[in-house]
Amino acid sequence: MKRKDIIIALLLMTFVVRIYGQKNSVPQLKPGKDKIEDVINAMTQEEKVYLLVGLGYPPPSGLSIIAHGFAGRTGGIKRLGITTSILSDGPAGLRIDAHPKGTEKTFFCTAFPTATGLSSTWNTELVEMVGKAMGNEVLEYGCDVLLAPALNIQRDPLCGRNFEYFSEDPLIAGKIAAAMVRGIQFNGVGASIKHFAANNEETYRGSENALISQRALREIYLRGFEIAVKEAKPWTVMSSYNRLNGFYTSENRDLLTTVLRDEWGFEGMVMSDWGAGIDPIAQMNSGNDLIMPGFEQRKILLNALKTKALDETVLDINLKHILNFVLKTPRFKAYQFSGNPDLKAHDLVARDAAVESMVLFKNDDNTLPFKKIKNVALFGKTSYHFIVGGTGSGEVNFEHAVSLKEGLTNEGFRIAKSLETIYTQYIDSVIMHADEATIKKAADFMSDPSVAKEKVIDFISEMPFSKNDIEQQVNNSDIAIITIGRNSGEGRDRKQTDFYLSDTEKNLIHDVSKIYHAVGKKVVVILNIGGVIETESWRDYPDAILLAWQPGQEGGNAVADILKGKASPSGKLPMTFPKVYDDVPSSKIFHPENPQCNPQNAFYNEGIYVGYRYYDSFKVPTSYEFGYGISYTKFQYSNTKISNTVFKDSISISVEIKNAGMFSGKEVVELYLNAPTDEIEKPVQELKAFAKTKLLQPGESEVISFTLNDRLLASFWSGINAWVADKGLYEIRIGSSSKDIRQKVSFSLPQKIVVEKLHNVLYPNFPLKEISRLKVE
Ligand code: BGC
Repeated sequence: MKRKDIIIALLLMTFVVRIYGQKNSVPQLKPGKDKIEDVINAMTQEEKVYLLVGLGYPPPSGLSIIAHGFAGRTGGIKRLGITTSILSDGPAGLRIDAHPKGTEKTFFCTAFPTATGLSSTWNTELVEMVGKAMGNEVLEYGCDVLLAPALNIQRDPLCGRNFEYFSEDPLIAGKIAAAMVRGIQFNGVGASIKHFAANNEETYRGSENALISQRALREIYLRGFEIAVKEAKPWTVMSSYNRLNGFYTSENRDLLTTVLRDEWGFEGMVMSDWGAGIDPIAQMNSGNDLIMPGFEQRKILLNALKTKALDETVLDINLKHILNFVLKTPRFKAYQFSGNPDLKAHDLVARDAAVESMVLFKNDDNTLPFKKIKNVALFGKTSYHFIVGGTGSGEVNFEHAVSLKEGLTNEGFRIAKSLETIYTQYIDSVIMHADEATIKKAADFMSDPSVAKEKVIDFISEMPFSKNDIEQQVNNSDIAIITIGRNSGEGRDRKQTDFYLSDTEKNLIHDVSKIYHAVGKKVVVILNIGGVIETESWRDYPDAILLAWQPGQEGGNAVADILKGKASPSGKLPMTFPKVYDDVPSSKIFHPENPQCNPQNAFYNEGIYVGYRYYDSFKVPTSYEFGYGISYTKFQYSNTKISNTVFKDSISISVEIKNAGMFSGKEVVELYLNAPTDEIEKPVQELKAFAKTKLLQPGESEVISFTLNDRLLASFWSGINAWVADKGLYEIRIGSSSKDIRQKVSFSLPQKIVVEKLHNVLYPNFPLKEISRLKVE
């Protein structure tokens, strides 16, 4: 052997010995190989705290990744085979930079309808498809987790983030969230249900203590999360910013361990919201496994370990959850992402979802769908600048969004030109002259400042129109459409002035309606909004009102599909539209504008009476009730059958739905239960199940079946900490809305059933004065 060869052979041997030795002595994170415990045992304390805290904000990239602009990154440890993970927002689609520095390439994502629109479809299969499409973008852009869905209860219409949430009702919120989680995780990426729990407002979200009775928590604020956890097994849960009954949720062991893990069987990883909580040691002890995005907490944790203020075995449990999560991620599995998701296919899903999300409020004289309409006058700035989604971490950097004007043009309608010119000049000048404060308002949390400037138009007042100006448009057009727009976002709540229409908006609806009606022409109002607004004072003026929500990038096309009659509206309201803001049970204390609002403690004195549970039980009339939405066709409900009139383990109900009109359409069938109040009080009725029919042609029928188990009959009895089904007579109400009940059947429960006994946890640290329906009857 030559000298050179000997040296090479020696080097090789050393290398092999090193690798071999390392393999033997340093456990590697591998599925089915070294146990996770061994990997944890091999860690230094420094490595442990490194994994328990995210890599900071903005998160360092430093990887051969394309997904810049993601929300956070977890640490990786090469010597132990632990990979980093990329966590990215959010509920309406993936949020990454579309134009990252250092490359000419673009990385657009699909903007789907916002959560409120998705739940308005009441179509879990469709939402699962949306989840699949979102998850595919997460995977193909090299991320590991989508920080979605968000399913806090829409307690008050003024919460700035309601557009990211599903409903005032936990059943629909939970079922829709579960569908979305299933869809996202179908791709082998994770979902993160958030914000756990009771983050129902934005203004004081970082400090406020939500004071909620144990019953209201179990029945309203936790229930949706429970459904999503049990039915869809999300990889991760994100704890919220607020305090709950005295403790920050991320520092609340009763919430994160006793309820979430011990009672519901959650096996995934819990992460904090970004910068939530104040005590990292308490977070670790409570079962908040991962602190995001990660600031100074490592030092504190390490010090606590060294001084024995923190038990290392606690951290080992948290680490186990984190490593179990890492094992599932595409990055750990070295998935070769393409950087090229099928955006065209996803665009179609976004359009389908938007079409099904729309709720028709009113359609006098069958104004819709359009019959002989060719020329359309488009009033309202938002017609030309349609709002795709809300602001903040729930934004999506999409390639192109279809405005209403564009959507109608695509369908062959002619848009009144002079009116268009007036509006586009107004919009251009507003955008050009926007001052910094207004841009900041629109830009908050946004990743792309150039888009922020454009958004300014969403936040400025509507352009006034004189009667004279309107009269000039009548002859140019066969019909008038007025779009009313609203935008809001993370970090701020809406004001009452945002809930009510401005005088300019009301005058516009009034004057356009009067002038068009005078010559026998119709008027349609389109609501391009993210949360509930007042409709009572103006809804009589126009002929038709279509609630389009914030429908994502295909919004304009989807509205045009409905107006043209390519599809009949089939969305229903997942929340109530009250007549006035003061009718909302939380209105007295919700908002900082209100003198009774307490920035430290939010007393949820309305208890279980949230949304329709309140309006129905306290007989408060509403503009549009929960579950409401009309169609171009009519549905007949008949032939209701019940499996038993005495409840044993479960009860089955079926109902026949017939399309008795002239249009094809889908119907949302809602099942409410009126339960006996033998031992404790209950709302007049509660949604217990729902289903959407297939597309029914005129004359076609479908039999819809539901099964109710004892848990669905039960209320949470705080006195004994248990879900209990009360004895007595139960009435099943099957309807087209919470007020439009078409069929009723009854059954009895001879003996009360204690369905599930739970822990006595999460009680308020101050007394509440909950309202009672018994006091008003
Ligand atoms: C939001 C979360 C979001 C996170 C990361 C927080 O401010 O509350 O919903 O996932 O930021 O962007």
